[in-house]
Amino acid sequence: MLLAVETSCDETSVAVIHQGAVLSSVVSSQVQLHAEYGGVVPELATREHLSNLLPVTKDALNEAGISASSLDAVAATRGPGLPPALVVGWKTAQATAYVLNIPLIAVNHLEAHLYSPWSTGNPIAADYESFQPNISLIVSGGHTQLVCVRRFGEHTVLGGTLDDAAGECFDKTAKLLGLAYPGGPQIDRLAENGDPKRYEFPRPLLENQNNNFSFSGLKTSVRYYLDNHPELKVENTELPHLCASIQAAIVDVLVQKTIRAACREGLSCVTASGGVTCNRTLRSALTAACDDSGITLRLAPGTLCTDNAAMIGLLAEKKKKAGELPAEIHHDIIPSWSL
Ligand code: KG4
Ligand code: ZN
Repeated sequence: MLLAVETSCDETSVAVIHQGAVLSSVVSSQVQLHAEYGGVVPELATREHLSNLLPVTKDALNEAGISASSLDAVAATRGPGLPPALVVGWKTAQATAYVLNIPLIAVNHLEAHLYSPWSTGNPIAADYESFQPNISLIVSGGHTQLVCVRRFGEHTVLGGTLDDAAGECFDKTAKLLGLAYPGGPQIDRLAENGDPKRYEFPRPLLENQNNNFSFSGLKTSVRYYLDNHPELKVENTELPHLCASIQAAIVDVLVQKTIRAACREGLSCVTASGGVTCNRTLRSALTAACDDSGITLRLAPGTLCTDNAAMIGLLAEKKKKAGELPAEIHHDIIPSWSL
């Protein structure tokens, strides 16, 4: 039985994993706390992790129907993320490993997102046997990357955002529209009744043949457009069209660049993970584009898209089985900042 802890941003999450199956996964979200600031406040997130982590751990153990003495390993997100928030989870995991005298496994948060599409079912279980070499799109609030994964555990970052992440673009443009944080899910919901072609927002770097993204120009373009058309902010009828048009610009870039990377690398499988992968238009656009190009698509299951400890634990168990050396329990935290 492995206990996994995730505290890299604003979700306090603990999961229990056993032989590739998720026995429990508890996520305590701090979204309400940060909403009034329009984004995550690291100091508040850290304090909240401190008070939430033990009750969330107890819930995860209870839900799995086990006691701490049944654990034979503990894993935690080592980075990247908000440094003080990471410290809370990592130090708690270190202390747990020390007290129970069990190995501690460090997991890179982006690597956990990267392999999350290789789990499936309800309850979720690892499906690593079906792994295929792939191009992987990681899209979250903090990251946007295209990664080439030729073998499980061997990946190369092909490119990423030069400025804002895709989720950040959703959140920041939503804020310009007067929507609450996090804006991504709100844009997704409102766009359902909007015309994606009503407003023409830029598709940054779309014509550029490299694997990089840039979303800050799109955000600025929305800002100038709203400044020049103040009536749009009061006309609620335009809100769905604005949301649909912004979403279409983000999704077009993500989908086209991902498919192009797969073709360039000669790979016939694409995966997508991270919070933005919850977006229904992104999911359907990727599905359609992969169908058209004869590419197999693996999307992270809904519960593994936004931050969660289950994806951390599933990958940690795989690493443990593969014989990866456990982390030194007494070492201080040194977050790794890249994948
Ligand atoms: O993976 P995640 O929970 O945290 C990071 O590792 O950053 O991703 C959170 C991001 C936020 O920017 C949020 O707005 C976005 O995922 N998100 C969405 C949707 N659900 C979450 N963006 C667009 N559409 C959604 N349905
Ligand atoms: Zn994440």
